[in-house]
Amino acid sequence: MKSFAALFVLGAYVAPAFAMVVPRKSGNLTPVTVRGNAFFAGEERFYIRGVAYQPGGAADAADPLLDIKSLKRDIENFKKLGINTIRVYTIDNSQDHDEGMKLLDDAGIYLALDANTPKYSLNRETEQTLHRSYNDVYLQSVFATVDAFAGYNNLLLFFSGNEVINAKNNTVAATYIKAVTRDMKQYISNHASRQIPVGYSAADVAENIKQQALFFNCGTEDERADFFAFNDYSWCDPSSFTQSGWDKKVETYKDYSIPLFLSEFGCITNTREWGEIAALYSNNMTGVYSGGLVYEYTVEPNGYGLVEVTPNGNIEPNEDFERLAEAYKKTKNPSGTGGFNENGSPSQCPPPDDEWEVESSLLPTIPENAKQFMNKGAGDGPGLEGDGSHFAGEASMSTATPGSGIPTRTPDGQAANNTGGESAASFGVHIPFQFVGMIAGSVMFGMSLVL
Ligand SMILES: *[C@@H]1O[C@H](CO)[C@@H](O)[C@H](O)[C@H]1NC(C)=O
Ligand SMILES: *[C@@H]1O[C@H](CO)[C@@H](O)[C@H](O)[C@H]1NC(C)=O
Ligand SMILES: *[C@@H]1O[C@H](CO)[C@@H](O)[C@H](O)[C@H]1NC(C)=O
Repeated sequence: MKSFAALFVLGAYVAPAFAMVVPRKSGNLTPVTVRGNAFFAGEERFYIRGVAYQPGGAADAADPLLDIKSLKRDIENFKKLGINTIRVYTIDNSQDHDEGMKLLDDAGIYLALDANTPKYSLNRETEQTLHRSYNDVYLQSVFATVDAFAGYNNLLLFFSGNEVINAKNNTVAATYIKAVTRDMKQYISNHASRQIPVGYSAADVAENIKQQALFFNCGTEDERADFFAFNDYSWCDPSSFTQSGWDKKVETYKDYSIPLFLSEFGCITNTREWGEIAALYSNNMTGVYSGGLVYEYTVEPNGYGLVEVTPNGNIEPNEDFERLAEAYKKTKNPSGTGGFNENGSPSQCPPPDDEWEVESSLLPTIPENAKQFMNKGAGDGPGLEGDGSHFAGEASMSTATPGSGIPTRTPDGQAANNTGGESAASFGVHIPFQFVGMIAGSVMFGMSLVL
């Protein structure tokens, strides 16, 4: 990828103080931006038509973008499906992705990427492990993932977490996920050459999904997510826009001011006829939703896949695949801009109650040792072989002043209008966390990344 390397030189002029600035441009696809509650590629409304792509599933945690032979084969199927996006849950941030990203770019496919890996993620086991796992070693890995992908035009967005809140009783995780979102946004502004959307992919927990959506879109600009997404399995064929309850999910979020989409969908209770494709890309929904990602490409033990992997390593599209390709083919996007809302207002933070145990909307301040990355860059990523971050490094020491995550520069290379993110970030409210120094005795390297 000579062209990619040559462009790196261009990055240097952007802001000499930031030696780690990621190259300005690579790939032919138009980068996707956020406008109001929608995504745009240039002047065109962008709807996510995508599939989750993690052959081997979560347990295997292999990087599918490094297996070029399989990727080439699978891209042919992505083209048959007519999709424009894949979601990948785990990549190896110590490796170069030029070849795989170029193949995707050439095929017109964007990447929605999770910034976590099983070993470098928040540990939601208890409130203590959550606090302990939001540390500098974890953030270094997340930021290294940003560095590894920010230069690709076809990097659509980053997920700052996936289904970390998966029950009624772990909503306390919300402040930590939102802190990671804030830190990623600040890091991108400081180091990337364009704004890249960052948001959370939530589990559809009936009791608290609305509070989650409101929470990620409330507070100061630096703390708010750029989009919100949830994994939805409520449309089980035979169904309809009203029978699935998707009509209510449009009504509920009609005033939501940032892009919303389904980060996974595709219930397998009965034969999948994919009626949801016609609904999702119709005017019934596009004023509020920007498409979604079908779960998932390969058949894994949980039975959701569109292609079977045969014992000799070949793949065979199944009937779900054929029906899905047909459904996409029949469904055009709405004309114009699909009724999006350009000028919504951020949400109010949801008050605590029995279903939402987030007492304060104050977020933890970035861990002291992680502040250095904002100026000097994250350095090399630990990849998938690293020791893991759950009990490494040092945790956050206090709650942050809203606004402390303002970047020190903008992605077009100008100095931002604040007194300096580093020093601003260090103004904590200094409410010491009750858990500081309290390392959980039990060694629980459990996974908080659940597919
Ligand atoms: C939530 O409840 C489950 C089941 O009762 C329990 O195993 C888990 O530890 C609880 N989680 C938290 C964060 O308290
Ligand atoms: C749109 O909504 C109407 C009214 O609820 C419904 O009859 C129609 O089937 C929906 N269209 C799609 C494509 O789901
Ligand atoms: C900084 O503030 C000035 C005056 O308010 C404004 O003209 C300028 O565009 C701002 N620059 C950035 C990078 O926001």
